Amino acid sequence: MALVRAMCKAKVPEGKICEVRVNRKSLAVANVDGKPCVISNICTHEQGPLGRGVLEGTVVTCPWHEWKFDVTSGKLLNAQGEGVKTYPAEVQGEDIFVDLD
Ligand code: FES
Repeated sequence: MALVRAMCKAKVPEGKICEVRVNRKSLAVANVDGKPCVISNICTHEQGPLGRGVLEGTVVTCPWHEWKFDVTSGKLLNAQGEGVKTYPAEVQGEDIFVDLD
């Protein structure tokens, strides 16, 4: 596992999700009860930015057409289609690190 720094953990408070770019990958980082959950930022419908969506529990709603994804599994919940890729992540000190492999 090759971890790279994604962002300062203070930038994504509990219950929120945000976008970040790491090594040319567009990611959405969610804070679920203090635990970072990282998924692809690119919605599998029409490439909407999931990191600008609304997070409720473990579910993010895409801001464009409201497809819903579970940020812990990447699973698409309310439509037929592909889910999004998930990335292992952890907090180290004040930062969130992600494994992009
Ligand atoms: S682009 Fe995400 S629901 Fe359409």
